[in-house]
Amino acid sequence: DWSMAAYREEAIAKIREQVGEGRVICGLSGGVDSAVAAVLIHEAIGDQLTCVFVDHGLMRKAEAEEVVNLFRGHYNIPLVHVDAGDTFLSALEGEHDPETKRKTIGRLFVEVFEAEAKKIGGAEFLAQGTLYPDVIESVSFSGGPSVTIKSHHNVGGLPERMNMQLVEPLRELFKDEVRSLGRELGLPDAFVGRHPFPGPGLAIRCPGDITREKLDILREADAIYLDEIRKAGLYDKIWQAFAVLLPVKTVGVMGDGRTYEYVLALRAVTSVDGMTADFYPYDMNFLGRAATRIINEVRGVNRVVYDVTSKPPGTIEWE
Ligand code: XMP
Repeated sequence: DWSMAAYREEAIAKIREQVGEGRVICGLSGGVDSAVAAVLIHEAIGDQLTCVFVDHGLMRKAEAEEVVNLFRGHYNIPLVHVDAGDTFLSALEGEHDPETKRKTIGRLFVEVFEAEAKKIGGAEFLAQGTLYPDVIESVSFSGGPSVTIKSHHNVGGLPERMNMQLVEPLRELFKDEVRSLGRELGLPDAFVGRHPFPGPGLAIRCPGDITREKLDILREADAIYLDEIRKAGLYDKIWQAFAVLLPVKTVGVMGDGRTYEYVLALRAVTSVDGMTADFYPYDMNFLGRAATRIINEVRGVNRVVYDVTSKPPGTIEWE
């Protein structure tokens, strides 16, 4: 892709000019954006970059390992992996409100990140994989008054507190452009093509109380759902697909017995930039197959529903 090859060169030159001999810390979220930003910055300034991956224990199945393997194994980029699951889960205990969940996670993220940054001797620069739609959506909502729909989780406040300057090489790009840039930089296709995943992770896919038990159920169900999507050859046709574990139990029947278990909602949307979205019109046979597998294989779920809401009026995530 010619334009991305040119963008890459330009971005590398800009990063070198901004950073000089300085040190940069990049927070990895596990997602495509921060990974592309990190690889780009590493190409520009090499070991002046250290990546910090704050693992909040709210990642999907096997996700944390994938990130660590990619960065340490494949790219050999210095990476600090902080396993902070206990800290996050105890702070979230009993919390129901979506905005409070986001704020708690955001605040802890900053605290953990700051502590790690100090341990490695600090840095003058903080790198983030902020995209153009992130810049827009946090400021205004199309057509309406200027309001924030959901407070997006990033390391807000940290740069000022630590007296750091921001390095945001993706600020002008949309998601599809970040993916082209990622391919241009040699990131594996399977990684670059991954659906977006929100910073607060599974916390906002578990409405109501967050418990380890619920997170485990959600992780298993979500992995099966995505496995079925891949097997049906639909993964790349969908912008984002995930499961949501509802805080509702319903009655079911299994063999001779009555069951009383959670309801799982499946979500899948198409979109260009996440700002508007349409629900994905699955074939009913697909949905039936996914539901049967989830109910048979995941203990704790006895009913599956499909979300047919587009954005607007719905948001993509449930919280
Ligand atoms: P919504 O639910 O607002 O989501 O329609 C739009 C896109 O943003 C992602 N999203 C988030 N990403 N932190 C993030 O980094 C967040 O707090 C957050 N909330 C939503 C969502 O997954 C979708 O791609």
